[in-house]
Amino acid sequence: GSLLFIVTLFMAALSGCGKPYLSALDPAGEVARKQYDLMMWSVWIMVFVMVVVFAVFLTVLIRFRRKKGDESIPKQVPGNHKLEILWTIIPIVLLILIAIPTISQVFSLGDTKAMDKKKDAKQGALIVKVRASLYWWEFEYPGYGVVTSQELVVPTNQKVYFQVKASDVKHSFWIPSVGGKMDANTDNINKFWLEIDDQKAEDAGNVFYGKCAELCGPSHALMDFRVKAVPQDEFKAWISNMKNAKETKPASALAQEGQDVFKKSCISCHAVTPNDTRPEQARTAPNMATFGEREKVAGILDRNEANLKNWIKDPEKYKPGTKMPAFGDKLSDRQIDALAAYLMQLKAGE
Ligand code: CUA
Repeated sequence: GSLLFIVTLFMAALSGCGKPYLSALDPAGEVARKQYDLMMWSVWIMVFVMVVVFAVFLTVLIRFRRKKGDESIPKQVPGNHKLEILWTIIPIVLLILIAIPTISQVFSLGDTKAMDKKKDAKQGALIVKVRASLYWWEFEYPGYGVVTSQELVVPTNQKVYFQVKASDVKHSFWIPSVGGKMDANTDNINKFWLEIDDQKAEDAGNVFYGKCAELCGPSHALMDFRVKAVPQDEFKAWISNMKNAKETKPASALAQEGQDVFKKSCISCHAVTPNDTRPEQARTAPNMATFGEREKVAGILDRNEANLKNWIKDPEKYKPGTKMPAFGDKLSDRQIDALAAYLMQLKAGE
């Protein structure tokens, strides 16, 4: 009982419990479920080994303890071939029992042939290119010419194929309740797929949380992203909307002023259209086209004007090591107010 308690406690600590839908112990799709099953299978085998070992150990401790008045030296045993063979074979069998499902899962999760057929996105596999950078995420839908950042949008009940890479140092793409982790490397593209259950997505309010799972710098722990998992028809509407979106027209005089500031100070790194056709080397900062619809500023602060302004003034304070320069002394308060007004109303359109 106490052993199971310790194991549970340990796993709870590993799974980051407390935060909703950031738990590998509450799988929300096929991949996460397979990973969970593998994890539990290993845990039960380990529990079995511990129970047997402890039982033998305690029995020996009690049965063969030194008895009062008995000064004799016990029988000396230099070795026992039968026992040695037995305790060599048992671990081998246990390892094989773990290896068989593990290897079969590795091949099943690595089956990305569907994405290599280069079918048109409309009828074939849905492909999302994930690019990790210090400390933000870019999601590109090559079948649609759509680029977005920080908030990944995917359909439920459908395999989504990911091509994962990094633009600076190694990161790792992980949506704990959906699957991963997948290393994001600078010198190769890692491919895998994920699928999210319709019902699980609904239970989660259609939002899951993603994290960087590879120590990449001082703000590694702040490299969060959102995953919006929506029904397939909703996804189709979203992607076609993104594909055809025009740059948002400023809705007020202040926002208009903000757009001018943006075009002078921000546009060299940040794009404001989701159908950004520039090569990825030119996309050196998060695409802002859907900022007005996002949950967070920079993936970590609640999206409101006050947080946005603080972020623009001194991003280093919130994300140490960020590439985004501080604008607190480059722009006037009026300019920052205008910029925030402009950014807060950016939408991919209805
Ligand atoms: Cu990126 Cu840790």
